[in-house]
Amino acid sequence: MFRNLKAVGRILYGRNSFDQLGDVLDELRIEKDSYILFLVDEYFDGNDFLNRIPVKPQDILKIIDITDEPKTKTVDQIVAEVKSLRTSLPVSVVGIGGGSVMDYAKAIRLMFTNEGSSALYQGLDFIKNKGVHCTLVPTISGTGAEVSMTTVLSGPEKKLGIKGNFTTADQLVMDPELIRTVPDPHRFYTAMDCYIHNIEAFNGHRKTVMGDSLGTESLRLCREIFLGEDSRTPENDEKLMVASFLGGLSLTYSEVGACHAISYGLATVTGIHHGVGNCIVFNQLEEFYPEAVKEFRTMMAKNNIVLPTGVTAGCTSEEIEKMIDVTLTLVFMWAHVSGPEWQKVITRDKLRGLLSKM
Ligand SMILES: [Fe+2]
Repeated sequence: MFRNLKAVGRILYGRNSFDQLGDVLDELRIEKDSYILFLVDEYFDGNDFLNRIPVKPQDILKIIDITDEPKTKTVDQIVAEVKSLRTSLPVSVVGIGGGSVMDYAKAIRLMFTNEGSSALYQGLDFIKNKGVHCTLVPTISGTGAEVSMTTVLSGPEKKLGIKGNFTTADQLVMDPELIRTVPDPHRFYTAMDCYIHNIEAFNGHRKTVMGDSLGTESLRLCREIFLGEDSRTPENDEKLMVASFLGGLSLTYSEVGACHAISYGLATVTGIHHGVGNCIVFNQLEEFYPEAVKEFRTMMAKNNIVLPTGVTAGCTSEEIEKMIDVTLTLVFMWAHVSGPEWQKVITRDKLRGLLSKM
């Protein structure tokens, strides 16, 4: 089966393009009572940036707590709350923030038009109805959430994306100025999510020329940024934003691999954030990606990044086994990494050994 990809509908790109968001949204405000639901990263709570968001009196703006990875429970709560406040649906759900906020926006827009809990829709192609319009404004780059057809959610039973033809956003605003103040090491960890996407997409059975071509350019940009003299220049912000976009798009034509599979398991138990979790896992994956792990360590050293250690040290054996259970549910990732016979090589023992080093 080939994926019948729906790409992001429209892209507003350029430094300070965020100032045009109001005009873009005004095109959607057709009725007198048309309103927008803005979801804004808590990073901006109390920040002057809030005044730049084109909120009108009828709109709803919610500050989104991103302490934990996006949860199905929170998606359901926000949809129920908005529905209780208004008789109509928003004309756009606008996510302004990092991967978590963008994933919330992508999931919430779908749950306005699909019955029941979002936990029912985790997986591929369970969503049956088109969601309301969705606008994404990344303020940190690397996850590729702005372009991907997945919205990753932690539910009561699993951490798994809602993925399908209706998941992709309708409008993207790519303003490199918005990522200028992201603090390190957060910026580095999130950027490495993009680097790891490219490495994983290349190294596997589901790779394609389309995925490779997009990923090659994304990888080239990552290398320019993090192997160069100073990763924190305005030019590098722009490169990082584009790298994230291309990396996210390349995944649509390939698959993530060992790092994401293990990192999902690690996150389910420890709640560790995706960017840093991936870096901790990737650092132990020489067996899968020997050259890239070396390069990743060079990037860390050049950018003065020291990874957290002992993340699994305090975990009980039950917790470790739960991480392994979750990791092994990601069969499409492992089939990409090791082929259809992956279960012969990806053993619980191997995963236990890797997790114990983290
Ligand atoms: Fe990722």
